[in-house]
Amino acid sequence: MKQPVRVAVTGAAGQIGYSLLFRIASGEMLGKDQPVILQMLEVPFEKAQAALKGVMMELDDCAFPLLAGMVGSDDPNVAFKDADYALLVGARPRGPGMERSDLLQENAKIFTVQGKALNDVASRNVKVLVVGNPANTNAYIAMKSAPDLPAKNFTAMLRLDHNRALSQLASKTGKDVAAIETMTVWGNHSPTMYADYRFATIAGASVKDMINDEDWNRNVFLPTVGKRGGAIIEARGLSSAASAANAAIDHMHDWALGTNGKWVTMGIPSDGSYGIPEGVMYGVPVTCANGEYTRVEGLEIDAFSRERMDFTLNELLEERDGVAHLLS
Ligand code: NAI
Repeated sequence: MKQPVRVAVTGAAGQIGYSLLFRIASGEMLGKDQPVILQMLEVPFEKAQAALKGVMMELDDCAFPLLAGMVGSDDPNVAFKDADYALLVGARPRGPGMERSDLLQENAKIFTVQGKALNDVASRNVKVLVVGNPANTNAYIAMKSAPDLPAKNFTAMLRLDHNRALSQLASKTGKDVAAIETMTVWGNHSPTMYADYRFATIAGASVKDMINDEDWNRNVFLPTVGKRGGAIIEARGLSSAASAANAAIDHMHDWALGTNGKWVTMGIPSDGSYGIPEGVMYGVPVTCANGEYTRVEGLEIDAFSRERMDFTLNELLEERDGVAHLLS
């Protein structure tokens, strides 16, 4: 049996946490031969800590053979201690009357503190996934607050958008979702993201040619994927949780164990390619092998794609400017 690895999860008593932790402990994220120690962080309020205790009792009751230990805490320096993986799910939700800029500021405070704690106590190879919204900018803040860790260790979750796009394409083409290759989503995890199936194939055939309907792409597909989160809230009365947890599992699984050449979407710090300024946390297609992701390079960007990619970039630049004063 392998040595256990330490997996930190924040917002552990929340909706996504409740779908996520049990799957990590059962081996779905890192493999059925990889024991894990779960290090869970919640806010220091009595109700949240009691709920976290309840989740830990349930984890105990599952008697997961791979669960080698558990820590519950309200202190990031405890939860992130020697963490090999960190899933930053907990974030400040938008309250009544709260402006978007207030939301950014409140989250900036959380992710500055958590970035610093990761910098101070996590493994130097920690793989960080930020799920809590605004995910890309929160990941950017955490990265900037952890100068001693490599910037490439910080990623934001675009995988839910990627999976949503795959499912829409499978339904449109009548093909198996698993058969769709080389699909990607560019930019911010927000309705401005650009889901791009120009390169996608099914058994070697072009999905774009198969669909052959640019009007559907622009007026049905893109708005459906972009506004899917809102549609779930309207239908369920609660935001996406199981599908978000599933996407987090997919993201970390693929980063740690590889994609066998398959493209997936990750929000990663830009290296300046595709006209995205360096350092911006932007969704791009990647492949993963040996615990590292590699950006898919050299894709042709046509005029419509450029416009969409710049639109979502501008939102990210605005968010970055809105928190710049907290990072200096
Ligand atoms: P939730 O409100 O059910 O749970 C969030 C939990 O985080 C709460 O238990 C809260 O006490 C905790 N929390 C808040 N601040 C914290 C902090 N500083 N440290 C530790 N814990 C903290 O929310 P849910 O549904 O679990 O969603 C979590 C986040 O994920 C939200 O920001 C949501 O918008 C985001 N999300 C992101 C998606 C993506 O694709 N990137 C998809 C779906 C949700």
